[in-house]
Amino acid sequence: MEKMLGFNPPMGWNSWNTFTWDINEELIRNVADCMVRDGYLEAGYEYVVIDDCWSLKERDAEGRLVPDPKKFPGGMKALADYIHEKGLKFGMYSCAGTHTCAGYPGSFEHEFQDAETFASWGVDFLKYDYCFKPRHMNGELLYKRMSLALKNCGRDILFSACNWGFDNVYQWVRESGAHMYRSTEDIRDNWESIKKIAVSQLDKECYTSTFCHNDMDMLTVGMHGGSNSSFIGSVGGCTDQEYKTHFSLWSMMGSPLIIGCDIRNTSQITKDILQNPEIIRINQDAESRGAYRLQAEPQWFNAEECFILVKVLTDGDIAIGLFNLSDGQKELAVQFWDMGIPSASNKGLSLFDCWDHKELGVFKERFTAVVPAHDCTVVRAKLV
Ligand code: GLA
Repeated sequence: MEKMLGFNPPMGWNSWNTFTWDINEELIRNVADCMVRDGYLEAGYEYVVIDDCWSLKERDAEGRLVPDPKKFPGGMKALADYIHEKGLKFGMYSCAGTHTCAGYPGSFEHEFQDAETFASWGVDFLKYDYCFKPRHMNGELLYKRMSLALKNCGRDILFSACNWGFDNVYQWVRESGAHMYRSTEDIRDNWESIKKIAVSQLDKECYTSTFCHNDMDMLTVGMHGGSNSSFIGSVGGCTDQEYKTHFSLWSMMGSPLIIGCDIRNTSQITKDILQNPEIIRINQDAESRGAYRLQAEPQWFNAEECFILVKVLTDGDIAIGLFNLSDGQKELAVQFWDMGIPSASNKGLSLFDCWDHKELGVFKERFTAVVPAHDCTVVRAKLV
């Protein structure tokens, strides 16, 4: 069966985190080349998304959006064709308000026209932001408008709503037709930001599922401070260990996986993190169930720094992440009883370590791991 649009968390690359305003067609082509050459497409990343700052500041005489000819001299259709020929999909960006966050024309009152323009260019994904929304307008209605416009534009376009978790978005976004929705403020390339976003989405697992995924924002994995925006990159990046934890959290919690680093210039470690097949498999599990949180044992640990995430998988396996976001090494324990496996059942769990890529053996009743500061252990567990 061919998967339907938005069935699993979308995966791809987006220009914003690293390049913000400084984008052009050569960059996008190079990124597309790299996605195929360096294994990203094979690992599951399919969307190449151009974020804000791609258009002229004014629409044309017919009211259409116009790509900036200095940045995109070949136009968007040719770029889309190039991306499609590589087996990738093409994403673009607009905004529910009168202007985008960077001050380019937004789609307010142009929703149907813009959807048709995007379709004519061969766009497959639209990120839809929330800046400059007229105050009297209801945001929910604006997302419903664009969703209808996209669903009726004659092309499958994945709808990525981006209102930063405002206006209780989780209560209405699924009905609006969006395939993913940003639940958080903009990520920054530092550990505090990653931790804050992850903790803000704990215990919200009922708000993510197939066809409407909780988007915790684009990944900063591998950026190491390399953004041209001082807002995103000011604190200078994270360690590889912290990026590994970031990737594990986003994957376990069912977020779309949208790369934000310059994949053309990354280390092997960054690649190994972003392309970890076992972690991606957990994220892309067919049923897209949210991960629930268990208190890490012993119980005196701060529950927002040391916790276990448990994600029930389609084939009966269980993904278990032991997270230590605190500043010191901890030995964390997960009690199988708390996941529905009583000792009386005489069942054990056969564990595969998804970062060390090795079998750990069969465990009964509990599993413990010594987890360094800002690190995690993620295992895939099979009942035996
Ligand atoms: C907002 C979004 C970001 C990015 C910028 C572009 O801040 O949340 O992800 O799209 O706008 O201006």
